[in-house]
Amino acid sequence: MSSKPAFPSSSSTTDDRLPLPVHVAIIMDGNGRWAKKRSWMRVKGHEQGASTVRTIVRASRKIGIKVLTLYAFSSENWQRPAKEIRALMHLLKKFLKTEEKEMVENNIRLHAIGDIDRLPGDVVRRLNAVQRATAAGRGMQLNLALSYGSRGEIAHMTRCLAEKVRDGNLELKDIDEEMISNHLFTAGLPDPDLLIRTSGEMRISNFLLWQIAYSEIFVTDTLWPDFTEEEYLSIIDAYRQRERRFGKTVPS
Ligand code: FPP
Repeated sequence: MSSKPAFPSSSSTTDDRLPLPVHVAIIMDGNGRWAKKRSWMRVKGHEQGASTVRTIVRASRKIGIKVLTLYAFSSENWQRPAKEIRALMHLLKKFLKTEEKEMVENNIRLHAIGDIDRLPGDVVRRLNAVQRATAAGRGMQLNLALSYGSRGEIAHMTRCLAEKVRDGNLELKDIDEEMISNHLFTAGLPDPDLLIRTSGEMRISNFLLWQIAYSEIFVTDTLWPDFTEEEYLSIIDAYRQRERRFGKTVPS
């Protein structure tokens, strides 16, 4: 039996609308502004943001999303004040602890992507434990992008392929798009069909640069802590009414 879940194709549907996206990726932004609006510490915004993570993971599993990738901590976020980084790491550990049981029960597999070794040792140990405990989950894969930067990921993939060529295990002519995809942290997963960014910023912020080549993008002004299941479902509905052409023309 394959060790990886099989992902249905999102390219065919029986009605006029697109099928449900297989892979949804989200840039969760606006925690700080949410807290600032209330004259609260930024960490309060992250706490509320963690609660939104729970809501959106549950909603995704409920409606049948197969892969959910959340940008939880970027490689650039290491430049934030030490106190805020500590608070984010603490929240992450707490989330992993409180959600493990529900993930196992709901058949959700957790997978961390990014420069994981840069995270504090206790967080890495917890992540590894939850990844082991949920490894059999075939209902949905939850990717947490942690200490993640897409350019770093691409540099890592390039080193990996260069090493194989140097050692005589790979021929230059065999390097194609599929091989590149298979050497990224998202190897084996379909590319995101839908990319959502909260808080209104029109930026990609070094997230999945290779993988989002043909993703449909939705930006909402809602700050991440205020993002609800209802809005998530309405974005998915709007996605299903779009037309994806993948660079081709529409059949007349
Ligand atoms: C962006 O808000 C959000 C982050 C940098 C981190 C995302 C973290 C969470 C949603 C909470 C913890 C995560 C998990 C998985 C439990 P920002 O601080 O950049 O907001 P701002 O742009 O308004 O300042």
